[in-house]
Amino acid sequence: KLLQENKKWASDKIGVDPDYFERLSHLQTPEFLWIGCSDSRVPANEITNTQPGEIFVHRNIANMVVNTDVNLVAVLDYAVTHLKVKHIIVCGHYGCGGIKAADTKIDYRHVLNMWLRNIKDVIRHHRQELDAITDTEARTNRLVELNVQEQVYNLAKTTIIQRSWKRDKRPDLHGWVYGLKDGLIKPVYEMKAGT
Ligand code: CO
Repeated sequence: KLLQENKKWASDKIGVDPDYFERLSHLQTPEFLWIGCSDSRVPANEITNTQPGEIFVHRNIANMVVNTDVNLVAVLDYAVTHLKVKHIIVCGHYGCGGIKAADTKIDYRHVLNMWLRNIKDVIRHHRQELDAITDTEARTNRLVELNVQEQVYNLAKTTIIQRSWKRDKRPDLHGWVYGLKDGLIKPVYEMKAGT
C-alpha cells in the first residue's frame, strides 16, 4: 500500500509542477532544523504546511537533545555548519507517551530505561513545581513544556551552537509544543545568540 501511494503521490506532484523533482534533486537549502518526537501524529512538514526541502529533520522519543547521542550531534553539526540553518526548533507535544512513561516508576527494561533517564533528570530539576500540580494531565503537559525548555538549554550548551553564535549570530533556538487535540503549536521558549 505504501509503495502504491508513493507512485500516486509522485505523479500528482509532477502533474502540478513537471520540474518538481528535477529542481529538488540538485540541492537542499532548508532554513530550519526540526528536533521533534518520533510520535506518528507529529509530522514536521505536515503540521507546518511546508514542502520537501524546507526543513531538516531529526526525531527521537520525546524530542531529546542528549549531547552524547552521536546521531543527534551529527545532525546538529551538519545543519549548523554546512546547511547554515537560521532556526532550530525543538518541538514537543502534549500527551507525549515518552514523557508520561518517564514520570512513572515502571521498569521498561534496558534501553528504554536508559533513554527515559534523561527525562527523569528534567523531572528532578522541576520537582517542586510539578509536585504542586494535582491533575495528572496538567502535570504531564507542564512537564512537556519544561522538557522542551531544557532541551533548548541543552542545545545552547553545545560547542556547535556556542561557536556558531560567536561567529555568525545564528541560529535562533525555539521551544515549541504541539497540541494533538487542536493541531496548534504553542511557542514556549526562545534563545538567541548572546543570551
Ligand atoms: Co511524544
